[in-house]
Parts: sequence; structure tokens; C-alpha cells
Amino acid sequence: MSELVIRQCVDGVLELTLNRPQKKNALNRDLYLALTELLQQADADADVKAVLLSGAGDSFCAGNDISDFVSHGGGADAARVPLRLLQTLAGLEKPLIAAVKGHAVGIGTTLLLHCDLVYGADNTRLQLPFARLGLVPEGGGSLLLPQLAGHRRAFELLVLGEAFDAECGRSVGLINEVTTVDDVLPRARERARTLVALPEQAVRKCKQMLRAHQQDLLQQVLVEEIDAFRERLDSAEAREALMAFMQRG
Ligand code: COA
Repeated sequence: MSELVIRQCVDGVLELTLNRPQKKNALNRDLYLALTELLQQADADADVKAVLLSGAGDSFCAGNDISDFVSHGGGADAARVPLRLLQTLAGLEKPLIAAVKGHAVGIGTTLLLHCDLVYGADNTRLQLPFARLGLVPEGGGSLLLPQLAGHRRAFELLVLGEAFDAECGRSVGLINEVTTVDDVLPRARERARTLVALPEQAVRKCKQMLRAHQQDLLQQVLVEEIDAFRERLDSAEAREALMAFMQRG
């Protein structure tokens, strides 16, 4: 089986590429585990100064694997695996950059809230379809998105849950810059190279200071959201919506 995350380190920038393109890089249990482990290793590896996340194929990430939801429901063990990734992302000490194209759904969008720089292609379709699926936000979205976008825009994105483009993502502060599809990864790489040329410890301290004020709160919210999410996964509303996706023609 090919690697679920392709790892390549160039001049201090660790590129992690989600590699399940046939499923639009939807995060199943194995992909969650692989990504979490690589991020934790990155923080511990002195050769890595920054991490650049992207997706293989035409999309960044279509969110949690819905067939995992259907088979495991809201079980405690099933929830621990995504929670560990989210806790790792929220606590990552090294700068995290994302290059996003195509679909970025659910956690494919909320994980961007934990990135320090995000570059989006002009074909990007972001979406937070939680309420539509009978679910609630995860990934710190209920805290971080209203902080970024204000209550009404956050409500619109998280509850009405319609797809929005990279320009809209930029206008709410989720994306730094919009490029063409071909330019998005080169541009993210270029910014990553600029970043790692800066004094490393100063950069890391800046990141820590920017997040310190609410790190405890964020970690608490991640757990509360997962608990609420698990509860919703076992609801009739969610089961119906998720089965509808699985059974579409
Ligand atoms: N979980 C499981 N499988 C998924 C998936 C997901 N989140 N997203 C995509 N896939 C699979 C599709 O089932 C399909 O598999 P198949 O070829 O074996 O049938 C494959 O990936 C390609 O997806 P497809 O739907 O054919 O591509 P598309 O371009 O028409 O649509 C999306 C792309 C992302 C809009 C659509 O796949 C989608 O809505 N996915 C669900 C997103 C979602 O709700 N995520 C969870 C949020 S909590």
C-alpha cells in the first residue's frame, strides 16, 4: 500500500502531503494516526523548522471519512483518534503552512484554523457542512471561527454550511493569499523558505505568544466539541444524513 502521508524535508521545511487522492484525502483512522505521528515527530526533530501541509490529487481534504463515521458511530475510541490530531495541531510549536486546492470540507477546513499561513487556489471549495449532516463543529471551529469572522459570518459558514471559495476564505481571515491552482504549492513553498530563513527561536516564540492567551481554553473546547460531536453522530438526524451520502447513486 502506498504511504498515506508523503513526507519530504527540504532545507528545514517538512512537506507533508495527504495521499489518499482517490477519496479526496478524506481522513480515515489510519490517515489520522499517520498525520498525528508525523506532526509530533516534526516538533521533536531539530532538522525541521516549519511544516507545509498539502493534498495529493485535485483536492486538499474532503473531511472525516464518512464510512468510518457510519461504521464506528460516536464510540469513545473512534473519537480519540481525531482528537489527538486536533490537540497536536493546536499545540504544534513549529510554524504550520497549508497549500489548499479543490475541496476542503469539514476538518479539511477547520484544520486551517490551526495553520499560521494558508495559501488557497482559486478553485478551492471550502465547506463546513456540520449542521447539514446533523453534526456540530469540531477542530476548535466554534471558538476560532467566530473570533476570526464575527458571529454572523461564522454562523453562516458553520450552520448554513454552504461551500465558499478561497476569496471568501480570505475575506474572513482563513486564507492569507489566493493564487492559481498551479501556483499554490510553489507560493506556499516560497513563503515557507522565507519563514525558515528567519531566526528560528524568535519565530517559534512569536507563534507561542500569539496563541498563549487561549491555549488552555482551546484545548478545553476541542474536548467539548468532540463530546458534542460524538453525541450527534449517534442521533437519527446524523445517521440519516451520513447514510444518504454513502448511498448516493
Ligand atoms: N468520506 C468518505 N469518502 C469520501 C469522502 C468522505 N468525506 N469524500 C469523498 N469521498 C469519496 C467518494 O465517496 C468517492 O468515492 P468512490 O469513488 O469510491 O465512490 C471519492 O471520494 C471521490 O468523491 P466524489 O464525491 O466522487 O467527488 P466529487 O468531486 O463529486 O465531490 C466532495 C467531492 C468532497 C464534494 C464530495 O465527495 C463530498 O461531499 N464528500 C463528503 C464531504 C463531507 O461531508 N465530509 C465530512 C464533513 S464532517
